[in-house]
Amino acid sequence: MHPIRIAPSLLAADFARLADEVRSVEQAAADWLHLDVMDGHFVPNLTFGPVVTQAIKNVATKPLDVHLMITDPWRYADPFLDAGADWLTFHVEVESNGDVRQLLRHIRARGRKAGLSVQPDTPVARLAPYLAELDLVLVMSVFAGFGGQKFMPEVLPKVQELRRLGFAGEVSMDGGIGSSTIASSAAAGTNVFVAGTAVFGAPDRRARIAELRRLAEAAR
Ligand code: DX5
Ligand code: ZN
Repeated sequence: MHPIRIAPSLLAADFARLADEVRSVEQAAADWLHLDVMDGHFVPNLTFGPVVTQAIKNVATKPLDVHLMITDPWRYADPFLDAGADWLTFHVEVESNGDVRQLLRHIRARGRKAGLSVQPDTPVARLAPYLAELDLVLVMSVFAGFGGQKFMPEVLPKVQELRRLGFAGEVSMDGGIGSSTIASSAAAGTNVFVAGTAVFGAPDRRARIAELRRLAEAAR
């Protein structure tokens, strides 16, 4: 069983004080830092690129879990790896734009961890050809593009289906994760929990992360 990992999404952070926000959630016992990269094309929002990722890497002590919600991960994988991405995940929905298997192997060849993500309406069967090349599957529990959306419980069976397909790597859930939704996600077999609003919106971030961790542990 993979360890429980709480990965605050910096999308919900105060971008005017990013270094302070990184230190804040690291001191609050975050396991990973989740970086939501959006290109305004794959999703209708635009966030940040390799330059900001490098700035975060310069102050971070925890692994960077970089979520590429972009149309062309083949073009940008190396700049994000150069900037310090430890886990690099892109979306299977762009598979017609390039060679997914080649890119996953390239990420691993550079000594990092490779992930694929599925939108809520994408069957996990789409991942079957790539499971042997994956360290992580990121199951979206909201449609990618924005923080603060409502958790979609209908995606939970996708986690069990991944296990039935023989996937033994880490499974991350992303979108609407909080105190009232993390237990069902953990019970389904998720071990990495991305939480933006739930952590950055909490008055006490350490208490909130501890609560999320406790709820997830209790539900497994
Ligand atoms: C949405 C992002 C999520 C989002 C999570 O496209 O991938 O990581 O920021 O934010 P919350 O936890 O607020 O739903
Ligand atoms: Zn994300």
